[in-house]
Amino acid sequence: MTVLRSDEWYAGQDRNAYIHRAWMRRGLPDSAFAGRPQIAIANTASDLTPCNSHLDEVAEHVKRGVWEAGGVPLNLPVVSLGETQVRPTAMLWRNMAAMAIEEMLRANPIDGVVLLGGCDKTIPALLMAAASVDLPAVVLPGGPMLTGTFRGTPLGCGTDVWRLSEEVRAGTLGEAAFLDSESSMIRSRGHCNTMGTASTMGLLAEALGMTLPGTAGIPAADSRLLARSHATGRLAVEMVAAGRRPSTVLTAASFHNAIVTLAALGGSTNAVVHLLAIAGRLGVPLTLDDFDRIGAGVPLLVNLQPAGKYLMEDLYRAGGLHAVLREVADLLDPTAPTVTGTPLLGHLADSPILDTDVIRPRTGPLLPDAGIAVLRGNLAPAGAIIKPAAASPHLLRHRGRAVVFDSVEDLHARLDDPDLDVDADSVLVLRGCGPRGYPGMPEVANMPLPAKLLQQGVRDMVRVCDGRMSGTAYGTVVLHVAPEAAAGGPLDRIRTGDIIVLDVPARTISVDVPDDELAARAPSAVLTDAFARPARGWTKLYVDTVLGADTGADLDFLLGSSGDRVARESH
Ligand code: FES
Repeated sequence: MTVLRSDEWYAGQDRNAYIHRAWMRRGLPDSAFAGRPQIAIANTASDLTPCNSHLDEVAEHVKRGVWEAGGVPLNLPVVSLGETQVRPTAMLWRNMAAMAIEEMLRANPIDGVVLLGGCDKTIPALLMAAASVDLPAVVLPGGPMLTGTFRGTPLGCGTDVWRLSEEVRAGTLGEAAFLDSESSMIRSRGHCNTMGTASTMGLLAEALGMTLPGTAGIPAADSRLLARSHATGRLAVEMVAAGRRPSTVLTAASFHNAIVTLAALGGSTNAVVHLLAIAGRLGVPLTLDDFDRIGAGVPLLVNLQPAGKYLMEDLYRAGGLHAVLREVADLLDPTAPTVTGTPLLGHLADSPILDTDVIRPRTGPLLPDAGIAVLRGNLAPAGAIIKPAAASPHLLRHRGRAVVFDSVEDLHARLDDPDLDVDADSVLVLRGCGPRGYPGMPEVANMPLPAKLLQQGVRDMVRVCDGRMSGTAYGTVVLHVAPEAAAGGPLDRIRTGDIIVLDVPARTISVDVPDDELAARAPSAVLTDAFARPARGWTKLYVDTVLGADTGADLDFLLGSSGDRVARESH
């Protein structure tokens, strides 16, 4: 019989076991304690995280499955992050959420956990926490929202906000019409319906082997999600009996499969920092270059916004993630396990493509090579990334004059100035937006284009930034430049007028200025920005300890795992 971790709290006749049981009874029978798997439901439901607000109902169905399998379910509300609401950027709090969740999982009498997430940072934070506490854990993605339409046109949330607001700035859409679309943008419960970060991370959780197979991508409003929630509760109890932990599921092979999947999906660039951070918790030696190496030659099969046309509801209708994985099965590592104990490839037998315009067959991909490109050069010695699938092909090799902005505020103040010396060949550079420079590394790399160029019909320019880009955005954007300007990277020393040379096929990004001249230049205003010098609180801890984007932007003392043991009793 399995010895349960929770028995250390509940088994026995002594005063401590009495206390632990007495306060938890609340109507539960004697049989609910010693010898019964205690399954936490780490629940990111919150009214301030609208994408996750339905997770309380999902949790109720998980509970049914846990009870049915002989466990005891325990709702555990955890830190939640609403991407569109949290200032200054939700990413500032990803590591805090991961730390708090890890500590609460360790501190409490639980044997396993179901991780309920959805909105962008929630699944990464849950996975980082689960990896570091290493209790049996299964992810249950809350699913995307249904497709809303505006005047007959489907709306991709996020992507269409950017597109419509650019149309207003270009003068091709009226402001009233723009505001009219607002109430159509979010049609139902669930997270953003494009292939943004939330969709990407939900699907990658499954590619990593961490969900009940066939669950990721079910729309939040689809009753099949509730049936899967029930089954996930059952699975969590089985996993405790089997001792199946993140350290046994999340292997190097799992990350290989996640990177292949990321490319085939045309997924969010944010997945790069999140996968690096999760791997860092497990000690899996994943590097930025692995994304380029493993993703090279993987075709883009999924025709979803922002790289394509459709939305998440269409992907599920067309066969879902498994149909995509089956198409690239030869590129996947067959040894990668899943939470079921069966390898990922063992779950793909009956997974046909049901709509070949949404999920393209291998013989007719949207792009033959959809991997993330990792760039290096004297502008990014530690690396930068670009998503060629979201870029304009004619800009992938480009040479242009830098127009440099020292902050987001500087950008907004000057971008639409009619006297700004910029043309379609210029390279917009925004710095001071890395993990330290703008604590949290905001999604600002996809800078808006100057209004005067929009009015001339320009729709894309090369942009370079040490920040991130929304997964719902598109454009020829070089992002995650490392080291960031605030860490003394060369990006800090470039000036308006310098020539920036981008060559994605050659994997280079450089500035045409001799290194000694660059090094001799005075630092920019980024290094004296007071916003990046907090005096106290979480933000100070964050700025003092955050690592670069090239390794996942985790805090240096959170790398690795502490396991699930707690050496001392509470009283
Ligand atoms: Fe939550 Fe987009 S705002 S997923």
